[in-house]
Amino acid sequence: MKRLLSIVGARPQFVKVAAVDRALNRHGGTIHEVLHTGQHYDDAMSRVFFHELSIPAAKTHLGIGSGSHGAQTARMIEGIEQALIAQRPDAVVLYGDTNSTLAGAIAAAKLGVPIAHVEAGLRSFNKSMPEEVNRVLCDHCSAWLFCPTEAAVSNLRAEGIIDRAVAPASSDHPCVSLVGDVMLDSSLHFAGLVKERSHLIRESGLKENGFFLATIHRDFNADSPERLNALLNALTACAESHGLPVVLPLHPRTRQRLGINGAMSIDPKRIRLIEPVGYLDMIALEMNARLILTDSGGVQKEAFFHGKPCVVLRRETEWTELIDHGQATLADADHERILEAVGHFMRNGAPTCPPLYGDGHAADRIAALLT
Ligand code: UD1
Ligand code: UDP
Repeated sequence: MKRLLSIVGARPQFVKVAAVDRALNRHGGTIHEVLHTGQHYDDAMSRVFFHELSIPAAKTHLGIGSGSHGAQTARMIEGIEQALIAQRPDAVVLYGDTNSTLAGAIAAAKLGVPIAHVEAGLRSFNKSMPEEVNRVLCDHCSAWLFCPTEAAVSNLRAEGIIDRAVAPASSDHPCVSLVGDVMLDSSLHFAGLVKERSHLIRESGLKENGFFLATIHRDFNADSPERLNALLNALTACAESHGLPVVLPLHPRTRQRLGINGAMSIDPKRIRLIEPVGYLDMIALEMNARLILTDSGGVQKEAFFHGKPCVVLRRETEWTELIDHGQATLADADHERILEAVGHFMRNGAPTCPPLYGDGHAADRIAALLT
């Protein structure tokens, strides 16, 4: 039996590993274990996902917690290295672009443990984003690069990472495969459970298409008082001009910054600040929102999965096909651009698009290639 170790630590990675774990179980032939770095640790950022998404309990929990990039990543590398030496998996599976991804890549590469990267090849072409550095470094030491989109495959090709089609895959002879997006797999699977298990919409008195959904957590938005203020002002203005409240589940980073920058006053009739919600409640919010405003990578795609237009609160995105198809609009933290984009989508709705992220079986392809 091949032994695979998934290394996760942050909220979006729990959504991704859930799909891969289900697929590996369906395929058989592997022992799949999970290492949790502890990058996210609040119940609402971690435990709720393991519970709702039936992710196997982490065999190793490093409990690293928060810190500067260097300190946090270094502590993770040390802990992961020890776990890899003790457990000797045949391969590690890494997800996305967080510091937990980078730490897993460095620890595994140095020990010669082959790396499978789920969500390989994404590029924002903005290396001031910590995630961009994490993605590039992880891709360059991976043996299996599982790409969600054609654009991701092209990005890798442009960096000289091409499928070598020889077994066994290694970082020098990688397997590059367009598999689709495991977040679509999770979205489709769990959307079916929402009606029965999520009561948030009814309990909060929200109406279908009767609110905007927003999330803000990027460091460049949350940590800049000017940008955060501009975003909150723009959200308030959208709520006023369209007569719909904005529901904003607050990432702990943003909540802290709002506390620090106490000067920012928020009108609770316009913006409803709530705690981060579990995945099923989040799907319910996405399915019922009129439109979604976000700086999240995952939420941009989920807006598309649920047929909702999306205003991206960033200068660029790695999910370029959403912009190309008019499903999402880049509006940065710019008041006018945000209002204009919301106005456009309120008048026109979301365009019809071809499937952009596969068929909901990305994780099955990954499982087939890894077993
Ligand atoms: C991280 C990822 C980002 C991803 C996001 C998903 C990196 C560099 N960034 O950003 O790519 O989009 O996760 O949500 O890996 N905090 C808590 N409780 C928690 C977690 C965090 O209070 O459970 C607070 C701490 O003050 C911490 C801050 O949030 O310093 C930021 O957390 P961190 O994990 O460093 O980065 P994220 O902004 O969550
Ligand atoms: N999410 C959630 N509850 C929330 C906010 C987000 O369950 O309050 C889910 C969301 O549906 C998506 C994932 O978390 O599946 C995205 O994570 P996040 O926005 O934190 O990170 P990113 O995708 O930007 O890396």
